[in-house]
Amino acid sequence: MKITVIGAGHVGATAAHRIAEQQLANTVVLFDILEGIPQGKALDMYESGPVGLFDTKVYGTTDYNDTADSDIILITAGMARKPGMSREDLLMKNATIVKEVTDQVVRYSKNPIIIMVSNPLDIMTHVGYIRSKLPKERVLGMAGVLDSARFRSFIAEELNVSMRDINAFVLGGHGDSMVPVVKYTSVAGIPLTELMAQDTIEQLVNRTRKGGAEIVNYLKNGSAYYAPASSAVEMIDAIVNDRKRILPCSALLDGQYGINNVYIGAPVKLGKNGIEQILEIDLDAPELDALRKSAAIVEENCNNLASLLA
Ligand code: APR
Repeated sequence: MKITVIGAGHVGATAAHRIAEQQLANTVVLFDILEGIPQGKALDMYESGPVGLFDTKVYGTTDYNDTADSDIILITAGMARKPGMSREDLLMKNATIVKEVTDQVVRYSKNPIIIMVSNPLDIMTHVGYIRSKLPKERVLGMAGVLDSARFRSFIAEELNVSMRDINAFVLGGHGDSMVPVVKYTSVAGIPLTELMAQDTIEQLVNRTRKGGAEIVNYLKNGSAYYAPASSAVEMIDAIVNDRKRILPCSALLDGQYGINNVYIGAPVKLGKNGIEQILEIDLDAPELDALRKSAAIVEENCNNLASLLA
């Protein structure tokens, strides 16, 4: 198993280290355009092996040749959000970067699974899909796992219970239009609505929607990376170990939820072949409506990129 992480910034480096520590691959390649940065960070990670107790080979590069024959490619290249910047502001800048990166990686790896992390997520995943020409099952985006993790952490804090007992699903686009599905949120199987007042649930839903911005406002010069990296690694673990996990991921819908040819967060089964199934769960009318609105925003933005993608 060879995993390449494109972008040796905050998210990419954190994810690469976790992949190595969890021994999800024999080889982890960290790529960036900044000469010295991926090499230095990768060497530092590799040197943590004896104390972190892993044998994974980690090396950094600025040469796409070194990414050859990767099984999984995690794309984190791009600019992070600055305060006051929406994910959509990043659109053109990151679309150009993701296009270039995707074109390069598929020259060297024939049939990889691509996991997109760069924002705006759903649109960048679409860019990766179009440019890579890979089957849709092999190109997916990391958003729902992160948004759900945020929602779960807020619920755990509010109820003072273990995070591990909380199940939650946040679907839709990764952005202000995300759709936390309260109906399928439970604590050790107990519906959240039985444990928490409606207005508290709404506050937590709202905080989840703005979870990324909350961190950007603290950091000022960057965006979240610990939870995003952990979320991407959870997806990688599901694929590497063929776990058939049901996780919310950005997937190209093909009629599910009445949405066609748009990347949007939906529950999927993740295994060694990438997306092995997209689950169509029963949603209430307002949630379905919100999901479709979210998809319409993504679709409009993708249409605006048509000339770049051609
Ligand atoms: N090819 C490869 N790497 C690139 C390219 C490119 N064309 N352009 C930029 N990069 C690299 C930068 O050199 C930098 O090291 O991408 C890295 C991005 O790292 P950070 O600026 O630290 O950003 P990070 O916080 O990691 O976020 C990366 O993930 O969560 C999303 O919104 C976030 O889109 C952003 C991405």
